[in-house]
Parts: sequence; structure tokens; C-alpha cells
Amino acid sequence: MQPSAHDPASDPSPAELLAARPHLALHAMDGLLLEGASLAAIAAEHGTPCWAYGAATLRARARALHAAFAAARLDVAVHYAVKANDHLAILRLLHEEGCGADVVSAGELLRARRAGVPAAGIVFSGVGKTDAELRLAVVEGIGQVNVESAEELDALSAIAAALGRTVRVALRVNPDVDAGTHAKIATGRAGDKFGIAHDEVAALYARAAALPGLRPVGLAVHIGSQIATTAPYRAAYARVAALVRAIRAAGHAVEVVDCGGGLGISYRDEPAGSPAALAGVLAATLGELGVRLMVEPGRWLVGPAGVLLSAVVRAKHTGGHRFVVLDAAMTELARPALYDAWHAILPVSAVDAASPATPADVVGPVCESGDILARQRSLPPLAPGALVAILDAGAYGAVMSSTYNARPLAAAVLVEDGHAHLILPRAPLESLWARDILPSRETAPRLRVLAGRG
Ligand code: LLP
Repeated sequence: MQPSAHDPASDPSPAELLAARPHLALHAMDGLLLEGASLAAIAAEHGTPCWAYGAATLRARARALHAAFAAARLDVAVHYAVKANDHLAILRLLHEEGCGADVVSAGELLRARRAGVPAAGIVFSGVGKTDAELRLAVVEGIGQVNVESAEELDALSAIAAALGRTVRVALRVNPDVDAGTHAKIATGRAGDKFGIAHDEVAALYARAAALPGLRPVGLAVHIGSQIATTAPYRAAYARVAALVRAIRAAGHAVEVVDCGGGLGISYRDEPAGSPAALAGVLAATLGELGVRLMVEPGRWLVGPAGVLLSAVVRAKHTGGHRFVVLDAAMTELARPALYDAWHAILPVSAVDAASPATPADVVGPVCESGDILARQRSLPPLAPGALVAILDAGAYGAVMSSTYNARPLAAAVLVEDGHAHLILPRAPLESLWARDILPSRETAPRLRVLAGRG
């Protein structure tokens, strides 16, 4: 991932950013458009901050992924990683495009069901599924549970057996491969909390086959996120392939390999992950095994399709520094604060876009020094009220929002056929305290102060 500070002179120009993002265009009158819809009009109607997603872009990406696998003559089931963006409208759209769902909580599981994903199309991943969540997975009859430990295997067996059900289980392998990504999103190294050490997997598979309520169907692996090269995938899948052979040699059936997610996108100018290259690696490492392949992409499907629209609150100059203070913050897009992530920021107005740019720090109003969306970014003068679009915010944006500083969650729209459909209204201010309970002064039990007895 990119370091926090860049020489703004080496940043891609607005023209280069737009050229790489055909779903965005700058119209001489209407300013920045997303799939033909005016972002200024969306902001005028729904206020800011506001997420805007392009349906055609989402569909095109899902189709491109499927096409890459088909071109490699691979039968790959795509389970979209719901954690990247869990709006029901987006889950439904991706389901219409042939994606199942990879979920990591009861909430995500039920969201996917609510959006119309059939139980059989759901895979449950995650290192800390509670007994209640495992029970839900069994009762719903979901397609597969990716088990992350011997302890979880025992718990799931007991739950399924007690319910008289049999659940399809894959064991998540920790292949001890460094995905070369930001430390906070790498998951496949020995010592990371995820998965089962690869030298323990074969024995555990045999144990799963003997436990009641379980049907071990295969292996799963996910090594990290925002991966741009094929080498880590190749290394991880080679390890998994060796395990498949060993488990089969021990007399057990292995029907599926879930190859995880992680395909990166180009935020600045880094190379994007390539579905065709991934398909090539899958074919080379796992293609001969006769297993059903699965993948769990999140970011690659939804990241480029979304922007975060924000208005300038203040154009501040002090101490020789220029700050653009937005009404969006780390509470909407946490990625720059959390991972030093670089997100492109473009003015929405064509007039602003044509004005000469100077470096500015783009910050939010939250009372944290880390509430920075971009450092030293070349931007034109932006007066209060001017709109900007923060690009490639479709993945790990809205889902990671918080209400810190008592900021209500932002609105979201889905642009489809040139029309902006509201898919999530801005949370009202009252929502911030709607679930708070003020204990009644009348009925509150008096605190008994336990005085020392000496
Ligand atoms: N499968 C599993 C088991 C995962 O843990 C993840 C992501 C995915 C699939 C999807 O990975 P993707 O294709 O989106 O890379 N918040 C961070 C990313 C965290 C990723 C967590 N796991 C960020 O904003 O960069």
C-alpha cells in the first residue's frame, strides 16, 4: 500500500484518473458524472456526505470476473465478500450477476438472505464465529462453513449433531505466505490469527470426517487483501494443492477449494489485480485436481464502482499550510487514517476542475489528528460548499463507517440507467441516541455503597 505522503507532482493528473475510470466523466456544464448521472445533482438532492455507486460498473466487473474464469475453462463459483460493501441493493445486484455471498457474521448472513441470496449460495468464513452464529448457519442450511480451528470444528460438530443436521465444511488453511500487502490486511502468514497451520490440516480433515454432523468437502485459503501480483497466490495455492493430494491419498474426498479473495485495484497508479492472471494461476496450481473452485472477491468487484461525495466546509490557511476541511471524515472513509491509503479526490464542478491547483491537506472535521483523507494533494481553490468526489470508495468505505463525534451515517445512492436511486437515507440525528436508555430517576435502584468493614 502507498505511504502517507507523496510528492503531489508525481500523483496522476485528473485527466489520467478519469481515463482509467470510464464510469466517470467530466461534463463541461454538469461537472463530474458517474455513469452519466450528475454528482452535483445527487449531492443537491441527498446532501453530503453521500456514497454513490454505479450499477453498470458493478455488473461489468462481475461479468468480467466470470468471463476471465470461463476463458480459462475453469468452473469457479464467485462468492462476493459481503464485508466490502453490504448494502442490500448491491448484494441483490451481485446476486443477479451470479455471485453467492461470503459472510463473516450472523448480520452479514441475514443481510445476504434478505437481499435474496439463497442459503446454498452462502459461505461462512471468520475466525470467531459464535455458537449462536454456527447454529444459525446450520439451521439456515448454508452452502459451506469455512472452519478456522480444531476447536471450532468440535463446536460445529456438536451443534450440527444436536440439530440432527449435516453441514458442509471446508478447513481454512494458513499457508504461511506473505501476500506482500499492508500489514493490517495480510492474513496468510504463520502467526496471523487466521486459519489452521498447514501442517495440521490433513490430520484435522481426517478428524472432521469422523465427527458427527460434519461433511468435510474441501479446503479454503485467503491470504490477504489488495494483492497486485500473482506470486503470493501461486505459493498459497501450490501449498493447498499439495494438501489436497495428501488428504486424498489418506482416503478422503476433497470436492472444493475456496481460493479466497484479495484481488487488488488501482487506487493511485499501482497495478490492479487481474482476473485473467488469477485464472491462470488457478488453472496452473489447482486446475488438474478436478475440484470445484470458489473465490471470495470483495474489493475488486465493488471498490472502483463507488465514490464518496463531500462538500467543503472550510478553506483554511494557517502557518503556511493549506487545509481543505470536508464534511466527510475518517468516520465515513477510514482507510486513509487506518492504512495510509491513497484515494483520488476530484472536484465535482467543471469550473473548479479547470482552475489552477496547489497542494492541500484534505481533512475531516473529526477531533483526531489522524482524520486526514489526503496529504499534499493538488487541488484547485475550493470555496465552502464546493463538492469533491473521493474515488474508489466502493469497498471498505460505508461498511467501516462509525458515528464517532456523533456524526449520523451518510446516505447512499445507486446510479442505474442514469437514475440515482436512494438505497440508504441519511440517518437522522435522532438515530444517534434512539437506542440510548436514560435510567429513570424514580425507579433506578439505589447504589449500595459497599463501605469497608474495618
Ligand atoms: N475472504 C475472506 C476470508 C476475507 O477475510 C476477505 C477480506 C475477503 C475474502 C475479501 O477480500 P478482498 O477481495 O476484498 O480483498 N478493510 C481493509 C480490507 C480488509 C479485508 C478483510 N478481509 C481495507 O480497507 O483495505
